[in-house]
Amino acid sequence: MKRIWILVLLAGMLAACAPSGDNASAEVESASPGMGMGPGGGMMERHRASIPADFADLTNPIAADDESLTRGEEIFTTQCATCHGDGGMGDGPGGAALDPAPAAIAHTSQMMSDAYLFWRITEGGIPFETSMIPYRDILDEQARWDVINYIRALGSGQVMPQGKMGGNAFDPELEAAQRAEMLSTAVEQGVITQKEADNFDFVHGEVDVYTSTQGIAGMGSSDRPDVLDAILSELVNSDVLAQDQADSFMDVHDRLMDAGLMQ
Ligand code: HEC
Repeated sequence: MKRIWILVLLAGMLAACAPSGDNASAEVESASPGMGMGPGGGMMERHRASIPADFADLTNPIAADDESLTRGEEIFTTQCATCHGDGGMGDGPGGAALDPAPAAIAHTSQMMSDAYLFWRITEGGIPFETSMIPYRDILDEQARWDVINYIRALGSGQVMPQGKMGGNAFDPELEAAQRAEMLSTAVEQGVITQKEADNFDFVHGEVDVYTSTQGIAGMGSSDRPDVLDAILSELVNSDVLAQDQADSFMDVHDRLMDAGLMQ
């Protein structure tokens, strides 16, 4: 039963890749280090995957308070940092030889929903044939939620990395510089206009402010593995953004992903 499900999923992934061809996937490989998300091809497919029904509606029941973050830190430093690095940037010594490389989870956890992260930690790389460990039998459910709280706190700068295994901390300035470079490449290649790039950068800034001040625990819908839609509608409802700014951002976001410039 499980094997059939994996085959169906793989067939779906191949179909999704087919129109872009080999060149496009080579572009993904070369573009991804620039985005600071690790060189692993296929992260885009994982970030667009549909979450299995058992997980799709889950939200984090554990508040990200000091106790949870302390438990999460212990789990992260003993179980995860070897591959994902102390700062959760995907650069731990144990992950150096892996292909795809460990994800920059301090960063990606700022956008991916509770349901997506819990699914990925529970089932690991099984659905995608990667080296990510399935933690279903290693960590109980509370421990999996605690570590999600911790990696989000690492990526928002709320907690500092424990310098044990090595690896960089998430650096917002570096990320902004990489985004600027990615946007100017996209404009040069005619994927987007300069005006769209400026709007994308502006809206991205507001999304970052939202995620670091409000937090995204519990947000998102079971249809999407990320929480972008939910954040954008909050920002439109509170008049931080106009609807057309939000719409243009989503449209550009999807085109950048399709062009292999962003994951
Ligand atoms: C043996 C190395 C290894 C260990 C240990 C490991 N991971 Fe991973 N992890 C990976 C690799 C490789 C990927 C990228 C491939 C993938 O997404 O399946 C990954 C991906 C992930 C993702 C998906 C991120 C995204 O943006 O799609 C999450 C979440 C994650 N790991 C969390 C954890 C947590 C939490 C721990 C510790 C409890 C942990 N990992 C331990 C190797 C590891």
